[in-house]
Amino acid sequence: MTTVEMRHPLPAAAPEQPPTPIAGPSPGLGPCAPLHVAIIMDGNGRWARSRGLGRQAGHRAGTENIRRVLERFCEHGVRYVTLFAFSTENWRRPPREVRGLMGLAAFYLRREVRHLHDSGIRLRHLGHLEVLDRGVQQQIQEAVELTRENTRMTLSVAFNYGGRREIVDAVRRIAAAGIPLDQIDERVLAAHLDTADLPDPDLIIRTGGEMRLSNFLLWQSAYAEYYSTETFWPDFDSGEVDAALTAFEGRTRRFGGLPDDHQL
Ligand code: FPP
Repeated sequence: MTTVEMRHPLPAAAPEQPPTPIAGPSPGLGPCAPLHVAIIMDGNGRWARSRGLGRQAGHRAGTENIRRVLERFCEHGVRYVTLFAFSTENWRRPPREVRGLMGLAAFYLRREVRHLHDSGIRLRHLGHLEVLDRGVQQQIQEAVELTRENTRMTLSVAFNYGGRREIVDAVRRIAAAGIPLDQIDERVLAAHLDTADLPDPDLIIRTGGEMRLSNFLLWQSAYAEYYSTETFWPDFDSGEVDAALTAFEGRTRRFGGLPDDHQL
């Protein structure tokens, strides 16, 4: 087996930037930042409870946090960020909370799409659109269309997304396309996932202290580095982004091989 070892020295963190829009070359851009960071934004409810607030206040604060985190990743030269905003299992939450999350998604898109566009960020959606609220569907489609040609960063929002369902969908697409069995391999399957045009995540961050993937990017995360922090998502700030990237820098990625100094 070929040894693939990659060390990722992180460039010095850039100073805090003014919030809008994200402009100019990325000061942190270097060969060693992860290309793709995916985030499970957990802990909104506990953040709210710890302040005596309702869950929706936590989700609102979580939504407000997205911009500063994206800005920091941009500063570090990260080219792809994927956010797990609503899972196929989140429909099991009380209807009121589901409605609140739908409303926040609509609010976020309405408010942020211009900023994302001006910042050169391309928006992608992962998951099933058709069962979502009409207004949310339309806003997602318009935002994806508006930002289609942007190249600075790709922001994928997994909204009504589940990793298992994505794999089942891919298998169905392959079957519907009539691809012969002996031509189906990992490359073909990956090309039929929602993420067909995205690189696999290098780093998966989970806030809120849990240690599980929760049906997020199951296929794509095969060799991702995993980082979990106790910090609740609304408190995950620039310093927390830097800490996650520093942890990533310290990892030795072998992709199933051995480090170079073990080759004798
Ligand atoms: C998990 O926290 C968080 C979610 C289920 C929703 C995350 C969504 C947002 C931050 C809104 C963003 C939406 C868009 C489209 C931009 P939790 O409620 O499970 O927290 P807990 O574990 O502390 O209860």
